[in-house]
Amino acid sequence: MYLGLDMGTSAIKALLMREDQSVIASATAELSISRPKAGWSEQNPQDWCEAVVAALAVLKKTHARDLSMVQGIGLSGQMHGAVLLGSGDEVLRPAILWNDTRTYIQAARLDADTQFRKLTGNIVFPGFTAPKLVWVKENEPEIFARVRKVLLPKDYLRLWLSGEYISDMSDASGTSWLNTAERRWSPELLDKTEMRVEQMPDLVEGTDQAGRLRSEIAELLGLPSGIIIAGGGGDNAVSACGVGTVSANRTFISLGTSGVLFTANDTYRPNADSAVHSFCHVLPDTWHQMGVILSAADSLNWFAKINEKKAADLTAELGNALKTPGLVRFLPYLAGERTPHNDALVRGSFVGLAHGNSRADLTQAILEGVAFAFRDNFEALLAAGTRIESAIAIGGGSRSQYWLTSIATILNIPVEVPKDGDYGAAFGAARLGMIATHKLNPVAVCTPPAIGHIIEPVKNLRAAYEDAYHNYRSIYPALKQI
Ligand code: XUL
Repeated sequence: MYLGLDMGTSAIKALLMREDQSVIASATAELSISRPKAGWSEQNPQDWCEAVVAALAVLKKTHARDLSMVQGIGLSGQMHGAVLLGSGDEVLRPAILWNDTRTYIQAARLDADTQFRKLTGNIVFPGFTAPKLVWVKENEPEIFARVRKVLLPKDYLRLWLSGEYISDMSDASGTSWLNTAERRWSPELLDKTEMRVEQMPDLVEGTDQAGRLRSEIAELLGLPSGIIIAGGGGDNAVSACGVGTVSANRTFISLGTSGVLFTANDTYRPNADSAVHSFCHVLPDTWHQMGVILSAADSLNWFAKINEKKAADLTAELGNALKTPGLVRFLPYLAGERTPHNDALVRGSFVGLAHGNSRADLTQAILEGVAFAFRDNFEALLAAGTRIESAIAIGGGSRSQYWLTSIATILNIPVEVPKDGDYGAAFGAARLGMIATHKLNPVAVCTPPAIGHIIEPVKNLRAAYEDAYHNYRSIYPALKQI
């Protein structure tokens, strides 16, 4: 029996998996975000531990015996957040999260130093960890002076579970302090932000053993004491383990809060100029590339909320058959933009509205806008040397056939939809728990799911979609000026 813990942004999910990889049960506990100022996004790390206790309490009600038989735990987490700890491991301030854009000035300043792109293979994005520490140094110097350790969100959970300061290569790749090719902290980059290697956790591969469960926490959670905790990873790399995107040239599309186009690579292939992310994967000697859309299903959720509808009711108004792209364009930049423009300040937009437009027209524009943003990511990966021939779709938005068909059509690739099941980060984390506990071959464990159906591009709409995409592309330069 294995336990996967995915520490998301809106909830923590705990999933129990048997030896044969069948899922027995899962439970979630909600988390809230605090936004004390425009562009800020924070959480209290103590809430994460309490959410784990709450999710495990739900599992305990029906699966206490299964919990008592867990042999290994895997961790997945929202990336890039900064948890600042003082000399007694006390949390010095709320964690600053991945979608917090307050640090755009500090990020641009670090990014202008060519060593960052050279050694990390990535732009220093405002959401990444290093610029957060520079912001704290400049705005809260008394806190900066007390920082003894900086941990990523899931590694704070590990500290609570095991007492160890350990991170993994995939999550560490999102800090702007990792030498991504050599899979080690860069003292040079740390020094540029007045940080030292001693303030960082030790590094392991995601599939390695990285701590054991402390007895007092084991008792609290109803788990056996001393069981192995895997290195784990950033949520996208761990989701990749869940959907079998672990060997070269396999790709998945995640249509969640954020949108992600993710490809596994057997070599390190950076291309920071196109704002593609080139990170270490959770498996040794493996890297991955990804493009990130900050508001994907989140754009539809925003529109559903202001219409007091469910997102699924809005997509149902379109039916399943793909329509010719409408004349309204939507740019999904509600929280700024990562790939390919790296623009924390730009905001979303509807363009081309007319009296005759209905709510369904605007829903269609939103789905198309996100599909076009995926095409931007596709082009960025292509420019980084990765050709994508098909992709598996995961995430809440992948329940919309219409949405997936528009994505298949604009990317001109088949999109595979797994049979019903749970293939996300919590499942990938449980797999990592199993791999680390028994030192298994990760590629043999992380197989792709059975595919329920394949969505092909709609050939007779390809040209219309290409035209609409080029029209979409032409809008950003104007939007940037606003
Ligand atoms: C990846 C990223 C998000 C977060 C949130 O770079 O910022 O996917 O990990 O889940």
